[in-house]
Amino acid sequence: MFLPQDDVDRVMSVMEQAFPPEFGEAWNRRQVSDSLSLSGTHLGLIAPDGNPRPKEHDETAGFFLSRSVLDEEELLLFAIAPDHRRKGLGHTLLRRFIEEARARGIRRLFLEMRRSNPAGVLYAAHGFEAVGIRPRYYRTPAGERLDAISQELIIA
Ligand SMILES: CC(C)(COP(=O)(O)OP(=O)(O)OC[C@H]1O[C@@H](n2cnc3c(N)ncnc32)[C@H](O)[C@@H]1OP(=O)(O)O)[C@@H](O)C(=O)NCCC(=O)NCCS
Repeated sequence: MFLPQDDVDRVMSVMEQAFPPEFGEAWNRRQVSDSLSLSGTHLGLIAPDGNPRPKEHDETAGFFLSRSVLDEEELLLFAIAPDHRRKGLGHTLLRRFIEEARARGIRRLFLEMRRSNPAGVLYAAHGFEAVGIRPRYYRTPAGERLDAISQELIIA
């Protein structure tokens, strides 16, 4: 039986499959619901057909979670579920994130990603540029150290 899902369920349904476990990037349910209760947190969902709001019993294809302070906004999480990748949903959702932030009066967007994440190609396509590196910032369970790349997009 399908039960109506709230936003946290929708986010977790994608989170649980979207992030490679070895990098420890996925958040748990508590982190997501705590974050959603803070002012300045923004959540965007995307349905498999690209619509912003999945219908009540439909699965969720992806989401973004961001946090704004004054005129800056950080993209905290961005993911499309594996079954729905390479169909343009990442482009659609990122474009929406940028447009919604601009409509809120945001002037600078930023995010941090591990070096060589394929998401970097997507961010670059929308104008994000690398502005800093934290060398060997991420540590995998295997002991490998990976740089974090800070990226920004000025939208003012
Ligand atoms: C990154 C991610 C959101 C892309 O979602 P998507 O729906 O597949 O994205 P799109 O279909 O819109 O593709 C966008 C572009 O990104 C690039 N891209 C996406 N996945 C890629 C991959 N595995 N390898 C190389 N390039 C890739 C391509 O340039 C692609 O455009 P193209 O298909 O026209 O070549 C998705 O792979 C994901 O959720 N990854 C795991 C979570 C994650 O790492 N999030 C980012 C944290 S910083």
